[in-house]
Amino acid sequence: MSGLRVLAGPELTSGAESFADHTQRLGTPQSTGRALVETLVRSGLTGRGGASFPVGLKWRSVIAAKGSPVVIANGAEGEPQSHKDRLLMTTRPHLVLDGAFIAARTVHARQVVLYIGEEHKAGWSAMARALDERPEGERRIARIVGAPHRYVAGDSSAAVHLIDGGVATPTTTPPSTHERGLDGAPTLVQNVETLAHIALIARYGDAWYGSAGRRGAAGTVLITMAGGVNHPGVLEVEAGTTVEEAVAMAGGVTEPTSAVLIGGYFGAWVQAAKAWELPLDIASLQARGLSLGCGVVGLLPAARCGVCDTSRIMGYLATESSAQCGPCFFGLRALSDACSRIAERGANRDDLARLKKWAIEVPGRGACKHPDGAVMFLRSALSTFADEFAVHPAHWRQQPA
Ligand SMILES: Cc1cc2nc3c(=O)[nH]c(=O)nc-3n(C[C@H](O)[C@H](O)[C@H](O)COP(=O)(O)O)c2cc1C
Ligand code: SF4
Repeated sequence: MSGLRVLAGPELTSGAESFADHTQRLGTPQSTGRALVETLVRSGLTGRGGASFPVGLKWRSVIAAKGSPVVIANGAEGEPQSHKDRLLMTTRPHLVLDGAFIAARTVHARQVVLYIGEEHKAGWSAMARALDERPEGERRIARIVGAPHRYVAGDSSAAVHLIDGGVATPTTTPPSTHERGLDGAPTLVQNVETLAHIALIARYGDAWYGSAGRRGAAGTVLITMAGGVNHPGVLEVEAGTTVEEAVAMAGGVTEPTSAVLIGGYFGAWVQAAKAWELPLDIASLQARGLSLGCGVVGLLPAARCGVCDTSRIMGYLATESSAQCGPCFFGLRALSDACSRIAERGANRDDLARLKKWAIEVPGRGACKHPDGAVMFLRSALSTFADEFAVHPAHWRQQPA
């Protein structure tokens, strides 16, 4: 594990940085208000929770919306392979809090909610202790709310429902939460990594932000290296760092690799030969039809079966939907069943044809992006493992996650 900017500072193994040490190391943020919003727009910072929405534009619309805004710091981190948000909350809680309170001051929010995954015990307690260290005026408007251990609980509309006293299930957008969220008020939901970058941009500006980055990209990104690398875990890399360079930083591969999952379970499989040169940068990946998502880079060793791994992940995503809409309740379940029939009983033309047909029909029809993310992942598997899907033998060996 290493840090350049948001993870810079004391050894990560020594736990949470105190408020006194944090303030001594970084000073207090200089910029809030309209000037900061325009700085964020110029920086090009995009959200790190998965959807990569431009931060400055979201802040502009929260400020323009009617009502008294609320800020939600999203530390749900429901993605099973991702560890970046919990690491950040555990080691640099004040950077996240700085970002949340800067956001609150800038959009004139009356309330800050720290929405933290209930299973992230270390991150939760570090954030709670850090909140206790903050000035009274900040403590008074902030509270921590637990995010249930469900994949969809991290969706911004699910967070709003839970915090409003309901159940953490997503609902249709528009209106987006930044137009109409908690109690109908404009609600700025921002991932905790995004908030940490904001805390530094408010101190050092957009030119400083852009002074890191490779191959024309700006800033740094947190990525979680998973699967067949010698040192799995979280790395902070310059945006534009290639997969090959990130793998080298993670100690190299443990064994030959057949494919790389870029962006986590809402991301895409890419054949290893094509993956190495990919720049880990939101815009560069989007230009190739890919997504950085939550920053997971997962290496599939050649000895493992891509069809079996795909079937396992599709089963997880089907189970984790909130089962309210047809595309999830019927579509994802049917896709997952067809995948597991191929994985368990062997390839068959009918299921393969069904997968290809349904992968076109399911997206764009759910209340949230859950089915779209799952189908993007499945389509990438059908193309990356096309040969394996066509000839998969009738065996099923449950592979560990
Ligand atoms: C099914 C689903 C799960 C999500 N889970 C998370 C999550 O665990 N953490 C997160 O920050 N964003 C998650 N998101 C994205 C949020 O809805 C939202 O876009 C994000 O928190 C906004 O912050 P950002 O712009 O800083 O990324 C999820 C979205 C969907 C559709
Ligand atoms: S699309 Fe799926 S996960 Fe999203 S609200 Fe509907 S059933 Fe739930």
